Amino acid sequence: TSKIVVLISGSGSNLQAIIDAVKAGQINGEICAVISNRPDAYGLTRAENAGIDTLVLDHKAFDSREDYDAALMEKIDAFNPDLVVLAGFMRILTPGLVQNYLGRMLNIHPSLLPKYQGLNTHQRALDAKDKEHGVSVHFVTEELDGGPVVLQAKVTIESDDTAQTLAQRVHQQEHIIYPLVVQWFCEKRLTMETDNAVLDGQVLPKQGAT
Ligand code: GAR
Repeated sequence: TSKIVVLISGSGSNLQAIIDAVKAGQINGEICAVISNRPDAYGLTRAENAGIDTLVLDHKAFDSREDYDAALMEKIDAFNPDLVVLAGFMRILTPGLVQNYLGRMLNIHPSLLPKYQGLNTHQRALDAKDKEHGVSVHFVTEELDGGPVVLQAKVTIESDDTAQTLAQRVHQQEHIIYPLVVQWFCEKRLTMETDNAVLDGQVLPKQGAT
């Protein structure tokens, strides 16, 4: 079984979806630790309730991004994970950290990448009068929110949508696709090869698996 470390900053609803999928036997893996950069992240409570080791590494205690990421890497590597899952971990990563986990670090981003990298994705999709919006799971590379996409889910934007209602529907999709991608990785069906996501031996297209 694969060893997984999950990094969070907040509510941890994606963490919960992955915890549930592990419990249900859908994911052949074990979450060995949950690490948060925020001491008050509710996801820490979710992990504790599931009997998972938790660790807080507060970025405010560090002088530089490099120092923080070096300390974070040391904490992660102590668990010797096969996979690092970013689940609402709201920090920009240094190139050194990204390189260290290349091909074994996944992120979920609330937009149909390459659209809307960065923050406030729901409002930006509304402002652009997009007809659809969604979420992407991708491998992490040095380009922020730019690594190869593994899987996307779409939601239709309704005329009365607000950023809140849209976020809610995107979240429902997140909780379906993130456990599925983690499952593929743990089954060794999913790899990253020279900046491409590869599933069952097939290089995935830009929008991920279809
Ligand atoms: C999710 O919507 C995720 O897509 C987003 O943060 C939220 C975390 O929710 N991630 C990013 O914006 C990354 N830049 P959660 O804590 O309930 O899983």
